[in-house]
Amino acid sequence: MEWLDSIVLPQSADHLTLLRVVGALALIVVYPYLATVVGSTAISLFYRRRANRGDRLAFRFAKDVAESGTVSRSAGALLGLAPLVALVFIYAQLGKGIEDGAATYLVVALLFALAGLSLVYSYRNSIGLRRLFDETEFIGGAPPDLREDARAYADEYRDLNNMSGGWGLVFALVASYLFVAGASVLAFPEDRGSSSLLLYVFTSGKIFLRYLLFLFGGLALAGSLVALRMFYWEGGKKSIETAYAEYAKPRALKIAAFFSLALPALVAGNLFVYPERSLSETVFALSFAALAAILLAFHFLYLGLRRADKFGGGWAYPALVAAFAFLLVGEMTASGEATERNSVMLDREYQAYFAELKGEGGGVEPANGEQIFGTVCAACHSFENKIVGPPYVETLPKYEGDKAALKAFILNPVKVNPEYPPMPAQGLKPNEADAVAEYLLKTYESDYK
Ligand code: HEC
Repeated sequence: MEWLDSIVLPQSADHLTLLRVVGALALIVVYPYLATVVGSTAISLFYRRRANRGDRLAFRFAKDVAESGTVSRSAGALLGLAPLVALVFIYAQLGKGIEDGAATYLVVALLFALAGLSLVYSYRNSIGLRRLFDETEFIGGAPPDLREDARAYADEYRDLNNMSGGWGLVFALVASYLFVAGASVLAFPEDRGSSSLLLYVFTSGKIFLRYLLFLFGGLALAGSLVALRMFYWEGGKKSIETAYAEYAKPRALKIAAFFSLALPALVAGNLFVYPERSLSETVFALSFAALAAILLAFHFLYLGLRRADKFGGGWAYPALVAAFAFLLVGEMTASGEATERNSVMLDREYQAYFAELKGEGGGVEPANGEQIFGTVCAACHSFENKIVGPPYVETLPKYEGDKAALKAFILNPVKVNPEYPPMPAQGLKPNEADAVAEYLLKTYESDYK
C-alpha cells in the first residue's frame, strides 16, 4: 500500500490544523451514522428472526427498522461514505510518523466498511420486496404465470435478504471496530508500548470499552431514530394503523431507553481511558455536556412512553446525536496533544521538503548545535520546564561525560519514561546529532549544574 503512504505529503502546520478541524467535522457525521446503521441492522435482524416463527407484526417492524435506521435508499450510503473516505486520508496524514502502517490499516478498515455498507443497503432494499412477495404470493385471482413469477421472486429476495443482512452486520461490526481502534491508537500512541499494532488492537481493554460505547450508542440511536421517523417526523407515517402503532412505538422507544441506560457509565469509563495529560477542563466539561444530553434523551423517551405527548419521544434522537457530538469534540481535544506533537515533526518535514523543491537542498539544516537545538528540539524541550518532553535538567545528568550515549539516543530514541510519550526520531545526520549533544552537555554543565 505504498502508493497511499506516498500521497501523504509533508504538510505545513496551518494545513495540519485545517485537517484536524475537517477531521472533527467528518467524525461528527460518520460516528453517529455508522453507529445508527449498525444498531438498526442488529435490531432489524433480531425482529426478522422472530418473524420466522410466524409473527407478522415482527416482520413489518423488522422492515420499518431497516428502512428508517438507514436514512434512505442510497443517499445514506453516500452521506456516510464521503466523510469516511475523507477521514481515512486525514487520519493517514495526521498519523504519519506516529504509526508507520497506519495508512494500510485504514484502507483495510475502509474496505470492510464498503463491503458492510453495500450489504446492509441490499438487506434494507430487499426486505420490503421480500415481505411484499411473501405476503401477496397466495392472493387469489392472479393468472398462474404471474403467480409463478411471484414465487420465483419471493425465493430470490428471501435468499438475497437472508445473506446480506447477517454478513452486512458482520462486516460493519468489523469495520467500526477497526475505526474505533484506529482513532484510539492515534489518540494514545504511548499506550501501545512496544507490542505490535495488530496485537494491541485486538487485546486492548481500553479499545473494547470504547467499542461498547459505540455499540450501545448505536442501538440507542437506532431505536430513537426509528421512533422519530415512524411516529413523529412530519406527523409520522400515515399508513400505520393503531394495532401496529401499539406494537411498534413502545418497542422502538424501549430499545432506545434500555441501551441509553448503559451510556452514562460508559461515558464516565471513557474518561478513565484518557491518559492523565489529556484530561483538561475542556474534556471534563464536554463529557458533562454529553451526560446532560443523555439525561435529556431519557426524559424525552419517558414522555414518549408515558404520555401520548405530541412530539416528546421525537426529541430523543437529536439529544443523543448532540451527546455524541460533545464526546467526539472531547475526543479530538484529548487527542490533540498527541497529534500536536506529531505536527511539530510533520511541519519540519514540510520545511525541508519545501526547501528541496526550491532547490535549496539541505539549506534549512542548521550548522551548529545551538541552532539545531533552537530549530528542532526546543519545540518539545527546555532545560528547566516540561514541554512535550522532560526538562533536560532531569535527563542530562545520566549522560554526563557520555556524549556517545546521548548522540545514540538522539539518532535513535527509545522509550524511556512511562510518564511521557515516546520521542519521535528527529532524522538528524550523525554530525548534527554530535553537535547538538555537545551543545546540550556543555550548556548543562556551565549553566544548570
Ligand atoms: C516532538 C517532540 C520532541 C522533539 C522535537 C524532541 N524530543 Fe527529545 N524527547 C521527547 C519526549 C516525549 C521524550 C521522553 C521520551 C521517553 O521518556 O521515552 C524525550 C526525551 C529526550 C531525552 C531524554 C532521554 C532519556 O534517556 O531520558 C533527551 C536527551 C532528548 N529527548 C533530546 C532531544 C534532542 C537533542 C532533540 C533535538 C534534536 C529532541 N530531544 C527533540 C520529545 C521530543
